[in-house]
Parts: sequence; structure tokens; C-alpha cells
Amino acid sequence: MSSPSDIEDRDTASATEANGASGEHPKETLSVTDNRTGRSYEIPITDGTVRALDFRAIRVAEDDFGLMTYDPAFMNTASCRSSITYLDGTNGVLEYRGYPIEQLADHSTYLEVAYLLIHGELPTATQLETWRHEITTHTFVHENIKEFLGGFRHNAHPMGMLLGATAALSTFYPDANDIDDAENRDIQTIRMISKMPTLAAFAYRHAQGQPYVYPDNDLTYSGNFLNMMYKMTELKYEPDPRLERALDILFILHADHEQNCSTSAVRSIGSSKVDPYSAIAGGIGALYGPLHGGANEAVLRMLRKIEHRDNIPAFVKGVKAGEERLMGFGHRVYKNYDPRARIIKAAAEDVFEVTGRNPLLDIAVELEHIALEDEYFIERKLYPNVDFYSGLIYQAMRLPVAMFPVMFAIGRTSGWIAQWREMVEDAEQKISRPRQIYTGERSRDYVPIDQR
Ligand code: CMC
Repeated sequence: MSSPSDIEDRDTASATEANGASGEHPKETLSVTDNRTGRSYEIPITDGTVRALDFRAIRVAEDDFGLMTYDPAFMNTASCRSSITYLDGTNGVLEYRGYPIEQLADHSTYLEVAYLLIHGELPTATQLETWRHEITTHTFVHENIKEFLGGFRHNAHPMGMLLGATAALSTFYPDANDIDDAENRDIQTIRMISKMPTLAAFAYRHAQGQPYVYPDNDLTYSGNFLNMMYKMTELKYEPDPRLERALDILFILHADHEQNCSTSAVRSIGSSKVDPYSAIAGGIGALYGPLHGGANEAVLRMLRKIEHRDNIPAFVKGVKAGEERLMGFGHRVYKNYDPRARIIKAAAEDVFEVTGRNPLLDIAVELEHIALEDEYFIERKLYPNVDFYSGLIYQAMRLPVAMFPVMFAIGRTSGWIAQWREMVEDAEQKISRPRQIYTGERSRDYVPIDQR
């Protein structure tokens, strides 16, 4: 770990000037002058980044703790080095391990993408077949999980059930604690990806008051999920291939999104070296929140409220007056079209061919059309995000709104695990432990209760 060289009494401004004038290659460093002491420091820049810990050497006295950086909500702090997902928000680019999301959505399957995220390369035909076999033969859960789920109230939110059941898996697999063993990590990886749809479908059936449907290992990952959700009295459930494919695409699009709220939660919890089920249960908790996995539900409510295309101008006027938000629009990182939204829009058309056209789609398309031509949205770089159309597909698939974040969680599981594994294997990572700026009282004498 490099530390800044203390270049006391140096005139930083003229040094930089001299550099430029002499035509030398610019140095990959940052020169900082501490005006409290007059000292200057040279801090290395690597990958467009300075290390927060390098600032610790900047101090006013020997016993000073050193300078800290303050970054609530991690708006400008990289917490790791990662080679999993590349995101360029300005240009609307999303790549998994270097492969554009558009190509993966066109040509790949969710299981292949999960392999790619976790192992770093697209599998060969043999590797994919082994992977598919391993995942599909681990889809069953222990019978006691059924009893565990049965303990939830009839109207329990399926996301809360998924969270609890995922955490409970850690008690079924105590061997998962051995996170430093690479083979063990592989076993838990397979268990997690294979069992997540089973837990999700069981949570749904519980809410419906319907018997659980066991996995059918002849079906694809998405086909089996549809089977566990919708099979009734038929001997063999045959998923519609168009719905199966659309679902697979949705899982692909949600598989990873670098250091978002839930992924950061998984990494942070996992950094304590707890088992991966407990870490991912924490990620599900983060995803549960309306600012993260719950926006697609808000889009649906908004479209229902607008009710008819004729009401769109009045609605947009209200948004521009700051009375409400156009849900499914805008993104913290994407300041251009969210590439996932474009793919989902196309997938929605395929789904509606099977399910019949969702009348809310016409409102959504018109709303998007109007918003994209309006100065208010153009100026603020507000474009449809992944949630603008996904809720319409889920609704057409007869999913209750409460299941929307659960669908997100199934897809995101492979990304969470890939990120967890990368964190465990990264020698530079330690237990997550942010600092704080203490703003409270100090060193007060205890006051007996009768004197307060
Ligand atoms: N409708 C109307 N105005 C908006 C919207 C919107 N959806 N989003 C942002 N703005 C305006 C906002 O009022 C502000 O205007 P002004 O400069 O006049 O004050 C400007 O655009 C910048 O907004 P911001 O709130 O500072 O932007 P942010 O980066 O903090 O927020 C966001 C990002 C996604 C929370 C926000 O765009 C939003 O609330 N969108 C609607 C909710 C939504 O669709 N969320 C799903 C995100 S994608 C899923 C995921 O990855 O988890």
C-alpha cells in the first residue's frame, strides 16, 4: 500500500505549471496543500482514483488521527476493484464480463449468464451441460423448509418469506460456514442459484393457499419456475416457450448491476466471513425497499391511476409542477437511455402475443413518447429505466404486485454470489467498517436520576 510522500514546503502550483511547460508526461499524482500546516503532499492516482487511506498521512500533529474523507451514501467512493460488470451511465452501456447486455439478452440463457458472471468466461458446451445438470438437480429444498414457510401468515409478503427462507438455508447447510474453501463456495453457489426459484414459487403458492409444486428437472430454469408457480392438476406442465424466453431475458437483465444497494449489502455482510446464505438474505432485505426493488410496482400503480391516454397531458403537467414523479423514469447512474429498458420493451411485445395486450402498455408507450420530447425530461436527462416496462410483463404473467421484487431477487442471485465470491477472493478486502464523524457530547459525568 503506497502512502503519499510528504513534500514539505513545496510550491505545488508552480510544480504543476513547470510540468506542463516542459512538455513532460503528466504525472499520475494529485498534489494537495494542507493550508493548516502549509505542507504539500503528492498522492498517487490509479485508475482515476485516489486512495482514501493515503489522506491519513495528512495531519496537523504527530498524534493527529489524520484526514478522513466524508461520503454519505457512497456517492463518490469505490469500495472494491471488480471485473464482473461494466456500467457507463453517460452512454447507456451495460456489460457483464465485457459482453454487451444486448448480445447476452439476444443469444444467451440465464444459466449461461450466471456461469459467465460467476466464472468470468462463457462456458464451453460441456461446461454448460455440467452446470445446467448441477443446477437442475439441486432445485429441491429440505421438506422442513415447507413447514418453515407454512408458519408464515396467509397474507405474508413473499419477499419477507424469501428473505426468511434464504437465511434459514444457512441452518440446513452448516458446512457453508467454511467460506475459505473454494470447493465449498462452489457447492453453495449451485445450491443458492438452484433453490432460489423454488423458495420464491413456494412463497407465491403459500399466498395463494395452493399446494407447493415440486421442481420438474426436465424443464429449463425459467420453465421450471413457471411450473412451480402455475401447475395445477395437469400431469406435466408445459410452459409456453415465449413466456419462458421472456422470463429468462428478465432474469438476465436483472442478474447484476455492479455496486448497487443490495450488492453492497451482500459484500458488507459477507466481509464478516459469515456464510453466503446469511449475506444474501441481507441483500434480499436491501432489495425489498421501495427505492431499490420496488419501483416497478410504483409504475404499475401510476399507469392504473392515469387510466386513459387522454389523461396523460394533465399527468405530465403535474410531474413538471413537482406534484409527483414519473415512476420508471430517471436513474442515479444512467443519464441516457437505460439499455435494459429497450430490451424489456421488445420482450413485452412477445409476452403480450401470448397473454393478450395489456391495455396499460398503450398508456406507457404514449407516456414515454411524450416525455422523451418534453424539455423538462430532456434537460434533466430522464429516460425510462428497467422498471418502466418490467411490471407490465409480470402483470401479464398473472403475478401479483408483491411478487415483482421477488422476481428481481431470483435474477440478481447470480450477481450477488459472483460479487460475494470476488470479495472473498480479494486479498485487499477486510471486514467492512466505515468511519464516522462524531457529533455528540463528550466525557460527561453521570447524573443521578433525582438531579436531572
Ligand atoms: N420524474 C420527474 N422528475 C424527476 C424524476 C422523475 N422520475 N427523476 C428525477 N427527476 C428530476 C428531479 O425532480 C430533479 O429535478 P430538479 O433538478 O428540477 O430538482 C432532477 O430530475 C434530478 O433528480 P434527482 O432526484 O436528483 O436524481 P437522483 O439521481 O437522485 O434520483 C432516481 C434517481 C431513480 C431515484 C429518480 O430518478 C427517481 O425517483 N425515479 C423514479 C423512481 C424509479 O423509477 N426508480 C427506479 C430506479 S431503476 C431500478 C434500480 O436500479 O434499482
